Amino acid sequence: MPTAEHVILRELMAHDSGWVSGAKLAPKLGISRVAVWQHMEKLRAAGFEFEAQRARGYRLSRKPDTLHAALIEVQLKVVPKHFSLVLLDEIDSTNDEAARQLAAGRPVPFVVMARRQTRGRGRFGRTWHSDSKANLYASFAFRPRVAPDRMQTFTLWMGLNICELLARFIGIPPGIKWPNDILFDGRKAGGMLTEARVDADQIRDLIFGLGLNVNSPVGALPPELARRAIALSEVAGGPVDLNRLAAAVIGRVHLAYQKFADGEHLKTFADLWHHYDLLRNKSITLLEGGRRHRGTVTGLDDEGALLLRDEHGHTQRFRAGEVTLEKAS
Ligand code: BTN
Repeated sequence: MPTAEHVILRELMAHDSGWVSGAKLAPKLGISRVAVWQHMEKLRAAGFEFEAQRARGYRLSRKPDTLHAALIEVQLKVVPKHFSLVLLDEIDSTNDEAARQLAAGRPVPFVVMARRQTRGRGRFGRTWHSDSKANLYASFAFRPRVAPDRMQTFTLWMGLNICELLARFIGIPPGIKWPNDILFDGRKAGGMLTEARVDADQIRDLIFGLGLNVNSPVGALPPELARRAIALSEVAGGPVDLNRLAAAVIGRVHLAYQKFADGEHLKTFADLWHHYDLLRNKSITLLEGGRRHRGTVTGLDDEGALLLRDEHGHTQRFRAGEVTLEKAS
């Protein structure tokens, strides 16, 4: 349901740098000009800046640089059916909050976003540093009714879609490092964490968590991470519109989910993987359950497991693990 805030923002953004008259907005919203002014004040408090002139009305001069729900919603090009966005100022982990919302009966699909996380999680229970309000922390909840062994392919497929989206959004293509890292120039800009509750042999519900370093300088991270991380703003050479990116991510994740649920992803998966995969033919070390395996990556199997050929020519498949690229000699 669009609120007065949505209507005002839509009008202001449709006129881009033009003026929108309060006298025209008021009847459109069925409220008085004073009430319009009150909404504008609320938007100001949320970080929007306007010029206001008695004769001409309002002109948007600045959008907030932290996440704003209505600003994301008015920029959604694809609005999934029955979709809802939950935007929180701060939460422990958006994946955990999505799980709680699922348990409380929130209908799918929905996304939980937060400006900050206090216990952001990565794979292997690692911390995903989420202090900065300049980045994206999002968790999407779905009920896909598929077999659990398709979950790995799901994360890889989502990663490919995020790569495609970023390539268009930033103008420079990232790569994907199996199974869940999004990299630019060998440095990590994003990570994915898919979690599912499984009933017998079916996934009951599935949470796809995505963290992207958007505008926060990586120097704010602990030094050992900062060296291996990159923010999209650094790749783009300037600040990235966080709310526009959030809207684009929502649209893309939903389209990708639809294709996955319909089995349509199989038509393009292999080509996209070939395009964005950073590991093919690379010598790597894979750490799995405390054991190190060295070899050359030859590809993926149907379940998204990594195929690694060792020095004796034997190929092993790995469903999980931590990959380190060997330095080129
Ligand atoms: C990884 O690289 O290990 C995965 C990182 C996933 C981080 C995201 S941020 C949003 C969501 N909430 C979390 O607690 N984790 C994921």
